[in-house]
Amino acid sequence: MTAQSHATPARAARLTGLGSWLPPRQVDNSDLASRLDTTDEWIRTRIGIAGRHLADPAVATSDMAVEAALRAMKSAGVEHVDAVILATATPDHHVPGTAPLVAHRLGLRQVPAFDVGASCSGFVYATAVAAGLIHAGTAGTALVIGAEKMSAIIDPADRSTAPIFGDGAGAVVLTAGHADEPGALGPVAWGSDGEHADAIYIPGGGSRHPSPSTGDHRNRFVHMRGNEVLRHAVRRISYVAQQAAAAAGWQVQDVDRLIVHQANARISAAVATALGISPERVPSNIAHLGNTSAASIPLLLSHSAIDRELRASQRVLLASFGAGFTWAATTLVWPSGLQALT
Ligand code: UT7
Repeated sequence: MTAQSHATPARAARLTGLGSWLPPRQVDNSDLASRLDTTDEWIRTRIGIAGRHLADPAVATSDMAVEAALRAMKSAGVEHVDAVILATATPDHHVPGTAPLVAHRLGLRQVPAFDVGASCSGFVYATAVAAGLIHAGTAGTALVIGAEKMSAIIDPADRSTAPIFGDGAGAVVLTAGHADEPGALGPVAWGSDGEHADAIYIPGGGSRHPSPSTGDHRNRFVHMRGNEVLRHAVRRISYVAQQAAAAAGWQVQDVDRLIVHQANARISAAVATALGISPERVPSNIAHLGNTSAASIPLLLSHSAIDRELRASQRVLLASFGAGFTWAATTLVWPSGLQALT
């Protein structure tokens, strides 16, 4: 036997808990079409969305994050984690970060807790950071949450953004294990290109233009050049998915389930075609949730697990893209016995 075969597999982060939460209020396309210059048919055919869940005004991102986190921790059977990382573009406040507030409400006293801001790629970015902490031995367990109240930053009068986005939260618990165990996260492939920072952005309210409404009250809302974003999204997601599959030692066309950021059903379809993955291997929940930004991937994982779209031993590829631009992908073999709670 070679020395290689005796080597202990590398320490890795394993998926051991999964949960999600959606605000109960559903808004369908006809509600939007009654006050915007749009139609149910346009939204269904151009984006693939029939409805979305929107939080009530009193509900903040942290409230949704706590609900998803409680379910993920129950799913994992844990009452404590060593770190909390929250991916969000819609924090409760600019200062402080929202993760410490969430950790406090979960009763996780004094654990490190911080936000990751990578827009729609935020959950995969945060997962990569958590996996790195676990791999290094800095943490034994981590709670990673994607939570968004997109309705707080979307102009309800803008037909180019209002139909697209929804609110919600999803969360996972990652636990130290070995790289050859089911549920272990594979290498991450990721990147960014700030040349396109203004393709999706909020002009006001940051240090560049501190007053959210300088010149125009709409400067506190998301501005998006949708078609440009769409074209970059297809190219970048296809590329990064291939990178992550190759890093895991997989052929991308052999992936059993592609969990792709739910931005537009046409983006998912184009990516699947580019990768040679048949549509039945690409679960989707965009029709009823819209684009929930950083919450999109953990929500889709949770719903796909509950629907038995995700089953033990499947090769699963996660891929995302968002404002920045940012993109990220990783892999795992779906573990047995993981019960998602919603
Ligand atoms: O989460 C990551 C970030 N976000 C995304 O990935 C979103 C990516 N982008 C998209 O999903 C799509 O670009 C949109 C759904 C935003 C738009 O679809 P599109 O096929 O790229 O349409 P378009 O922007 O090229 O507009 C086509 C037409 C335009 O009319 P004209 O100029 O052809 O007469 C728009 O004014 O559709 C019009 N339009 C609408 N019509 C009815 C734009 N929005 C609407 C609307 N209802 N809501």
